[in-house]
Amino acid sequence: MTDLVIRPMTTDDVPAAERLSAVGFLELDQRMFRRDWPDPELRPAARSGPWITRTRHIVETDPGGCWVAEYDGELVGNAVSFNREKLWCLATYVVRPGLQGQGLGKQLLDAALEHGRGALRGMISASGDPKAVRRYRLAGFSLEPQMFLKGTVDRSVLPVIEKVRDGSVGDIDLMDSIDRQTRGAAHGPDHGLMLGFWPLLVSDTSTGSGYAYLDDKGAVQLLAATNRRTAARLLWAALAATDGETFVSHLTSANEWAVDVGMAARLELHQEGYLGLRGMKPPAPYLHNGALL
Ligand SMILES: CC(C)(COP(=O)(O)OP(=O)(O)OC[C@H]1O[C@@H](n2cnc3c(N)ncnc32)[C@H](O)[C@@H]1OP(=O)(O)O)[C@@H](O)C(=O)NCCC(=O)NCCS
Repeated sequence: MTDLVIRPMTTDDVPAAERLSAVGFLELDQRMFRRDWPDPELRPAARSGPWITRTRHIVETDPGGCWVAEYDGELVGNAVSFNREKLWCLATYVVRPGLQGQGLGKQLLDAALEHGRGALRGMISASGDPKAVRRYRLAGFSLEPQMFLKGTVDRSVLPVIEKVRDGSVGDIDLMDSIDRQTRGAAHGPDHGLMLGFWPLLVSDTSTGSGYAYLDDKGAVQLLAATNRRTAARLLWAALAATDGETFVSHLTSANEWAVDVGMAARLELHQEGYLGLRGMKPPAPYLHNGALL
């Protein structure tokens, strides 16, 4: 591909990168799960808006990790990564369907990884696409299978929730400390972003501390705690906030406390994708966010 250009992403590229990502992940979904909807819908506005806000935030806070591929003047690939303290994270990575498998993804990932060369640790929440998984393993990432819980909570088993309160911007220092203990690096500016997206629950007692961001349906977007008891308390609080079918995503085998809560709540356990890790063990007690890890 002689007309191919790999260049740094700017905030102006973000809307086109979002549409490319929507097309790429819809195609992946259909390919992996053989979903053949009569009228497949691209990512709806309710999800594309937050994608754009989050990606702009990453480009603004750490532009050196964000790369796009252009072919004939059109955006055909992107890799969005960022460093937080000594941790490198990959937020999103896609190549236009039809151009995949020809080496374009490798060039994008190499550019993003170069930005993380000073990082001691790395995290990627990987789709199940065999091409993505191959790229990550060849880049030295260990692949931890991810599980997820699905179903409707049996409300008759919900425990009385104590020692959990609503959180706020005043909890950022506490959350950064919990992040350092669980994943080796604070989320720093990403807490400000997440506080704008989701309600926050905090548990802070003399024996342990933790926090969880939930979406408006009670689904956990990120959960971290200094011990399993606090983590389980926060997950029960999240499950109590659900109404109808729910999902708890991104469980690794290091987080069996979450599997046990899910079993007790009579949720189903399934598997999807991998947590790619370099220079670190699977964080625990921790349920990572797919993009902000
Ligand atoms: C993941 C992705 C960005 C990689 O981009 P790409 O341009 O396809 O990547 P490359 O061509 O550089 O590398 C793909 C590798 O998989 C190999 N490959 C191709 N088809 C394959 C298949 N069906 N199974 C396994 N490996 C395959 C390629 O040969 C290549 O390996 P090699 O360089 O050792 O020969 C792209 O495939 C994509 O957008 N997938 C859908 C979205 C997605 O899953 N993104 C990752 C989210 S975590």
